Amino acid sequence: MIGNSTGKRAVNSLLVRIDSRSREPLQQQVYAGIRRAILDGVLRPGTRLPSSRALAADLGVSRTTTVVAIEQLTAEGYLTARHGSGTFVARNLPDDLPPARVLPAPNARARSLSHRGAALTAVPSAGWRVGGPPRAFRVGVPALDLFPVRVWSRLVARRARSATLTQLDYNEVAGVRALREAIADHVTTARGMRCTADQVFIVAGAQRGIEEICRCLLDHGDRVLMEDPGFPGARSALVSAGAEIVPAPVDASGADVPSAAKSHGDARLAYVTPSHQFPVGVAMSLARRQALLEWAKAAGAWIVEDDYDNEFRYGARPLPCLHGLDPDGRVIYVGSFSKSLFPALRLGFLIMPPDLQQQLVAARRAADLHPPTLDQLVLADLMSEGHFERHLRRMRSAYCERRDALLSAADRFCRGALRVRPIHTGLHAVADLDEADGDAVFREAARRGIEVMPLSAYSVSPRPANALVMGFACARPDTLRAGMEQLAAAIEAAARPTTRFRSAARR
Ligand SMILES: Cc1ncc(COP(=O)(O)O)c(C=O)c1O
Repeated sequence: MIGNSTGKRAVNSLLVRIDSRSREPLQQQVYAGIRRAILDGVLRPGTRLPSSRALAADLGVSRTTTVVAIEQLTAEGYLTARHGSGTFVARNLPDDLPPARVLPAPNARARSLSHRGAALTAVPSAGWRVGGPPRAFRVGVPALDLFPVRVWSRLVARRARSATLTQLDYNEVAGVRALREAIADHVTTARGMRCTADQVFIVAGAQRGIEEICRCLLDHGDRVLMEDPGFPGARSALVSAGAEIVPAPVDASGADVPSAAKSHGDARLAYVTPSHQFPVGVAMSLARRQALLEWAKAAGAWIVEDDYDNEFRYGARPLPCLHGLDPDGRVIYVGSFSKSLFPALRLGFLIMPPDLQQQLVAARRAADLHPPTLDQLVLADLMSEGHFERHLRRMRSAYCERRDALLSAADRFCRGALRVRPIHTGLHAVADLDEADGDAVFREAARRGIEVMPLSAYSVSPRPANALVMGFACARPDTLRAGMEQLAAAIEAAARPTTRFRSAARR
């Protein structure tokens, strides 16, 4: 029996069907049944749920099963717990959240912020999520289901058991030596870079590294060229440093930084993702790379090369990274373990021109000193004992399978309505839409619990391509297929009246 917040009894049953022969875990069935009932409006906002005990008795499952399902729905925002009065269907469902480009509402507290703080809090977040564990098309998340948790926990336990007094003390500001050596070896072999451990600077994730670079190299009002569309994390770091951001449009050869610089006057820094432009996915041509380096030399500018997912290539031969082509020490290379391992690790690295390394070390003394030592040591072990390379090899073949599942599901369910561009690198795809507007598809998909992003969410240009950005790495092939079927329904719902697209469900 279900009541509402005013205490009135309602007569709906939850409509949760438990199939004891199904291979789907019971708690997942309970979770999915309640969520479906909420999304279908059977359980309306404000409705009170029965207690976990009553629900368990009603469904013939254990109380732990219902507790876990209710906790997950609460964590994802479908339910809210009110102390002493029970659990209710949330008034604002996560699926109804506004699109990613909407700016946060002006907040009275913003008045007490600095100019920099106010600018920073106004940067729109492009990373909209339904929440909960990885699901189809989440952007930027690797296959966490395939991460070697047992190896990792063995290494963590070993390091924790054997921690020395020196390791428990404040440590090297640039990062643990063993990790810096392992990273220098890795980039020398994998990326053909000339680099020593002295140039490696460990950061708490690539995003944080970009922020540290901006803090040291930019003054308020400095002009910075940034790819458009581009990575919102880099945009936030630039805004936080008070930079004036000049967009460098991206075409099939990557961002054309020198042309953008020519029409806007000199800049102090350029931020680029040459190996796999985020989010468009193209590689910067060799001619553009050379022109960019020449521009930086002539302008006395720095280049931040973000190589966030270069480990994953599907057949394509990599072009040399900018850092490897740069004779003048103008390129700062940024690497991340968020895609190669897992994002919660919060570790990445910078490879710096030698003179700059010491400056960043000095600047960091004013901040957090260094990332956590234990995590760095475990990561150093993972790399030096060969587990990292092994994991990358396994992931390359898993991602090929997931990419192929995405492509064939798009073909099957969306036909020509979603044209996925060729995927040679990385963990996400870009797909053009002809029949519907990307922002409208985003909203319809969100209503169905599907996480796709419109390309417009990453653009400052008023006329971005009408396309979706879709992660394919974090979900299994069957989940991608199910997600694509839902996405096809979203495209149909958002389709312009003049189009004739019908999703597979309706054909
Ligand atoms: C282009 C780009 N750079 C950097 C990152 C973030 O890396 P990290 O998690 O190490 O901060 C991302 C994350 O999605 C990204 O897309």
